[in-house]
Amino acid sequence: MSKVVVIGHGAREHAIAEALAKGGAMVHAFMSFKNAGLDEISNGRIRIEKEDNFKELINYVKEKELDFAVIGPESPLVVGIVDALEKAQIPCIGPSIEAAQLEGSKIFTRQLLENHQIKSNLIFKTFESMAGVDSFIQDLGLENVVVKPDGLTGGKGVKVFGDHLFSKEEVLAYCEELINQGSHFVIEEKIDGEEFTIQALVDGNRVVGTPLVQDHKRAYNHDEGPNTGGMGSYSMEDHVLPFVDFMDVNDAISEMNRVINALKMETGVMYKGFLYGQFMKVKGGLKLIEFNVRFGDPEAMNVLPILKDNFLDLCYNILDGNLPIRLNFERKATVCKYLAPEGYPVSPLKDQKITINKEKISEIGARLYYASVYKKDDSIYTTTSRAIGVLGVAATLQKAEQIAEKAISCVDGKLFHRSDVGTRELLQKRIDHMNSVLKS
Ligand code: AMP
Ligand code: GLY
Repeated sequence: MSKVVVIGHGAREHAIAEALAKGGAMVHAFMSFKNAGLDEISNGRIRIEKEDNFKELINYVKEKELDFAVIGPESPLVVGIVDALEKAQIPCIGPSIEAAQLEGSKIFTRQLLENHQIKSNLIFKTFESMAGVDSFIQDLGLENVVVKPDGLTGGKGVKVFGDHLFSKEEVLAYCEELINQGSHFVIEEKIDGEEFTIQALVDGNRVVGTPLVQDHKRAYNHDEGPNTGGMGSYSMEDHVLPFVDFMDVNDAISEMNRVINALKMETGVMYKGFLYGQFMKVKGGLKLIEFNVRFGDPEAMNVLPILKDNFLDLCYNILDGNLPIRLNFERKATVCKYLAPEGYPVSPLKDQKITINKEKISEIGARLYYASVYKKDDSIYTTTSRAIGVLGVAATLQKAEQIAEKAISCVDGKLFHRSDVGTRELLQKRIDHMNSVLKS
């Protein structure tokens, strides 16, 4: 029996562990705090330790004689977890530190795309001081400006003119704030269209896609409020979106292939693991918003539970460099909704008790994923991040959404969620928006 360690403590890692266990793996979990779902799947085979404590992790893997490691979150990847483990002869599903720059540095990624003339790149400039900022804003036009800090920001550092910044003074003040914090940043053109996520498995050479997903970054209904790590996401039974067709999917996969080839040419590194492409479909084609070097959270929950192939075998395919050309998924729609602590992401109410009616959730046919909550004396409490994910899977989006909503009502606590994720109204709004962009 394969013995696998999953690194990370959130709902995405809960979904990864579930898929590995379904594939026949004996799962171990290495996490900074006790995720109740991972604890259950691992049957208590867990180690509570910071995810970037590589020394402890290596000791744990050796002591338990584990076969390989699957790394869930970005933070250990960008500081070299894969390099450290591989040096200790532990195979890993995840990119090396150099390849992880695709997420860890927006400057690196935009520059790589420019060097290799990859067409989904945007007009951009990178800055290490305020020199030249004013004139680049003039060149782009103030209303077309997006400011992105270079490092990891948990999806919360990007500021878009018209959404988060409303005057030149505010743009300059944000750039100065970043410089004062010691951050470099990118200013890039603002584009208009519909965003989608394509998550892929990559074995060094081949990029194999999973169903398209659309996430909802804004905290509140109707896409209002601050950006978050993602409040919910959906996928359709045909594995594309009403406003993104199979041609666009092929285009996105080709762009991802070009990027991993460019990476190989520039650094000599073969990309291996999961790769998440966030694209926007605009008039005239696809544009890259960002890459993540891992599965998305919540987007992992939209694809892994409907995977028909054996996920453990696919992990071995990644390690051996022999992924199949195509993956098989159930023809089902999915809706994932997150419950977050009141006040998230600005001033989240932490240490609040949550009660979950697990029996009712499974009666409804929904799935439950534990995110950033901790267990104390048999009760579950909030932290400062998203708390509980619920997933509805059904033949249609409408049914999947209803299942997710019913599951939400089985969780009590000082929490909120977006009731519009996966609804017909919101989907229609997206379709209308795409049509108006394409016609403009
Ligand atoms: P990111 O953290 O790069 O995914 O950015 C967060 C959100 O900001 C994205 O999901 C988009 O909605 C928005 N965004 C990022 N870059 C751009 C851009 N160049 N033009 C318009 N919106 C953008
Ligand atoms: N949901 C966005 C992310 O995982 O980065």
